[in-house]
This record gives sequence, structure tokens and C-alpha cells, in this order.
Amino acid sequence: MKIGIDAIAMDTPDFYVDLVKLAQVRGDDPDKYTIGIGQDEQAVPPSSQDIVTMGANAATKLLTPAIRASLGMVLVGTESGVDASKSSALFIHDLLALPEWVRAVELKEACYGGTAALMMARDYIAAHPDKTVLVIAADIARYGLATAGEVTQGAGAVAMLIKAEPHIMTIEDDSVYRSESIDDFWRPVYQDTAIAQGKYSTEQYLAFFQAIWSRYQTQRHHTASDFAAMTFHLPYTKMGKKALKLVLPDTDEATGERLQRRFEASTRYCRRVGNIYTGSLYLGLLSLLDNDTSLKAGDRIGLFSYGSGAVAEFFSGILQPDFAAQLHAANHAKMLADRQELTVPEYEAVFSDKVPYDPEDYRSDPTYYHGQFVLTGVIGQERQYQQR
Ligand code: HMG
Repeated sequence: MKIGIDAIAMDTPDFYVDLVKLAQVRGDDPDKYTIGIGQDEQAVPPSSQDIVTMGANAATKLLTPAIRASLGMVLVGTESGVDASKSSALFIHDLLALPEWVRAVELKEACYGGTAALMMARDYIAAHPDKTVLVIAADIARYGLATAGEVTQGAGAVAMLIKAEPHIMTIEDDSVYRSESIDDFWRPVYQDTAIAQGKYSTEQYLAFFQAIWSRYQTQRHHTASDFAAMTFHLPYTKMGKKALKLVLPDTDEATGERLQRRFEASTRYCRRVGNIYTGSLYLGLLSLLDNDTSLKAGDRIGLFSYGSGAVAEFFSGILQPDFAAQLHAANHAKMLADRQELTVPEYEAVFSDKVPYDPEDYRSDPTYYHGQFVLTGVIGQERQYQQR
């Protein structure tokens, strides 16, 4: 039985900051941001947006009455959870008025959480072929103003329906994964900004990729030439480019040219949105599918997922006969084009206006509301969501 992605949608806030302008204010060479790091714009999430609202905003586009009726699980991969106990899947379940006879669970392992959810969904469908799983990968990447990580922030969500006989792409049973406890990036529960050992994290990303890619080739008997494209977890686009560079020396010229061209297509959304942690790999997949019209049914796509801490996985998917008909490239182009640019001081003000950790009541600023679902505030320590 084929199992895989039947539908996919994204959400990202309506606000962004231009990274050339940010570089100028920070006293950096803009080329460092746009070429050295490979990022042009960065999504700025207002306090009315969290992973629940962005996840719901993405998922609502996928839900038909038939899909609702077949739902077996709602899985949210995230490392920006809104509660240490209650799963964000339950908040989303409520906002989307999903059926009660489902499992609603949140999964965490840094940026790998989205892939963990996808693989759990895949295995569940193998046992329950008549069901659908809603997988959401949503995050807000925050490092802090004027930090080394600032240029690699971002915000957004990707929602996917995982089903038998999927319309877009199968998820092949060829995963190779690896886990090792390392301290390259983490976020203590008492703060909303991450701590990164920047250089070490990039080295570990590459070391995990190299080890897994080597094992994948030996165990699964596939080489780079079997792939129409390879997509990577993109904390920033240069990171994926460095990983792809490890593959290229062993490829023939045509394969190398193809993988590089399609890699570029897979980075277009990330360049404008930034890191969305669990969702980044899947935003890259969506960017590839939306922006490369030369892909065809039967093409094999490679996917490399990396979550600091660290767990990583490489697997492949095969494009299905009518995959192109399921895509919404024009909508996504419009979503990005319609965003409002914030000046650097405006971005700094929005960044600093956040839900406090103390028990004070808090109301988010309606000037920056976005999408169908918003967080209006936190009253009596309870989060207040609203559908607009
Ligand atoms: P940095 O120290 O500011 O940057 O931090 P740099 O000095 O290393 O420069 C970056 C690149 O720009 C270099 O290129 C420079 O040469 C180049 P490279 O040598 O790497 O190819 N450069 C220029 N290029 C053109 N013109 C110029 C110029 N100047 C310099 N004028 C760093 C960069 C990414 C480390 C920082 O932003 C950071 O710490 N980010 C957060 C951590 C991160 O994203 N790590 C990625 C791997 S870990 C991961 O992917 C997991 C993660 O998503 C979290 C999770 O799993 O949950 C982060």
C-alpha cells in the first residue's frame, strides 16, 4: 500500500523585515546575510500569533467534510509549545472544531519533531488504511535582537494530510535515522529565545548528514543519480547548500546540475520566511513543488531532517501522477507578496511585545492580527483564542 502526503499547506505571518535593512542597522555587510547566510527576508510573528494560530491557519485550508470524518490523529511537531502540559494539538482541535474521536498529541525533538510526527502518521496509516492523519509542523524561531542567530529567525507552519493512496507524494519505507545527545542548540523552559553554539551546530548538522547519507547509500542501494531532487532542513539556506555540497563530488555532471537547480527552487520560501524549525524541511519541499515545474510523476525526492540535540533522518518520497493539481503555487506567491514590511524599529517593537511568563493578564495588539485565528490575550493564565 502507498502511504504519504495527500495535501499540504503553509502559513506565515503577514509581517516581515528586510534583511538588507536589518544588516545596515546592525552594522553588518548585507552580503553576509543575503549571500553568506542566504536569507533575504524574515517573517515577524506578532504576539497574536503562536504555533496554535499558525497551525490552525495552515490546517484549515486542508479540511473537507470527508477528511474530517476520516481523521484518526492530529499530531503537532513543535519546539515552541504554548503549555508545558496540554498539547497544542488540543488547542488546534478546538479551534478547527475537529471530531472528538481522534488522538491529539504534540511531539518534541527540536526541528526533528515534524518528521517524528510524519513517521508516526505513516506507521499509523499502515495499521489503519481507512484513516487520515493531520500533521502540523509549526514554530517560531527566536534568538534575540542583535544576536548572531537573529538573521536566522523566522515563523510559520506547514500542515499535511497523511493518507493511503496519497495524491502528492508517497513516503517510502527507506528511512535511515541517527540519535546522539549533544549540546549544539537548546532552549531552557524559562526563556523564549534559543541558545545556539552556532558553529558547532552547523558542524554537527553536516556530520549527521554525512553519516546518514553514507549509510543510506549502502543500506538502501540508492545513489544521488536516483534522486530528482534533494531537500534539506533549512535553518538558513546556506546550511542546506553546504549539505548538498557533500553529495556533489560523487555525482555525474547532469545529476549535479539537476540537484543544484532544484535545491535553489526548494530554498525560495525559506529565503523569505526564515527558519520555522519543525516545518522548515516541509516548507522546502513545498517551495520545490511550487517553484519547479519540470518535476514529474515518479520522481524520487530526498528529504533530510535535522533536529538539534540531536536526531536526524534521511528518507525519500515518490511524486504521484496528479501531484501538480494539488498545489497552490499562486496562492503562496500572493501570501508572501501581500505581507507588510516592518521597519527595523517596528520589528524590534513587535519582537519585544510578547506574552509574559508572569501571571499578569495580557492582551495582544489588534493592529498586528493575522489570518483566520488569533490569540487575543492571556487572561487569568488561560490563553484566549478567537476565530475572525
Ligand atoms: P556568524 O558567526 O554571525 O556568521 O553566525 P559567520 O561569521 O559564520 O558567517 C556566516 C557566513 O557568511 C560564512 O560563510 C561567512 O564566510 C559568510 P561560510 O563560511 O559558512 O560559507 N560571510 C559573508 N559572505 C559574503 N559577504 C560577506 C560575508 N561576511 C561573512 N561580507 C550562524 C552564523 C549560522 C552560526 C548564526 O546565525 C547562528 O548561530 N544561527 C543559529 C544556529 C543555526 O542556525 N545552526 C544551524 C545548524 S543547527 C540546526 O539546523 C537546528 C536548528 O534549526 C534548531 C533545531 O533543531 O531546533 C537551528
